[in-house]
Amino acid sequence: MFVWSSKYATHIQEVDAQHQQLIAILNRIYAAIDEGAVSADGLDASLDELSEYASYHFEEEEGLMIRKRVATAHVKLHKMEHRAFIYDVKRLQAKRASAESVDALAQQTTAFVTNWLALHILGIDQSMASQVRAIEDGASPQDAYEHFKEYTYERAVTRNLVGTLLEMWREAEDKLREIREK
Ligand SMILES: [Fe+2]
Repeated sequence: MFVWSSKYATHIQEVDAQHQQLIAILNRIYAAIDEGAVSADGLDASLDELSEYASYHFEEEEGLMIRKRVATAHVKLHKMEHRAFIYDVKRLQAKRASAESVDALAQQTTAFVTNWLALHILGIDQSMASQVRAIEDGASPQDAYEHFKEYTYERAVTRNLVGTLLEMWREAEDKLREIREK
């Protein structure tokens, strides 16, 4: 499961609500895997839902960046990340038709979407949100970009990734302990 926590919050209400919606779609695939109930039709429906909702969300986010006058250099890079996600989901959809194991493809899907969402939200989305706030507070779009470009890639990603890895490690440890105690 992808567990939402405050570190993912951009504090832009509609962005956070849409991210949570994407996570809900992802978690339905996790739930189906846990219940041993992944079906070809179910996975097809989830992949469709994912690509449709992600397209809608990306358009909204890109529109917001333009409205808030975020620097073009950031918007270009950000759009590329969005396009790459849609491309990868399309590849998963194409694979589904020939996949021998629907379960394995469902696992691959959850791993890919979980990693992508965590990295994207903690990285470039947090940078976008910081730039939007700085511009609202009177910074020029270019200054906001220069300042938070560094913040995103050097500090936020490292700090948040280390935090995420530690959490995953703790969860794995807890699971191991549970197994041992049984
Ligand atoms: Fe984004």
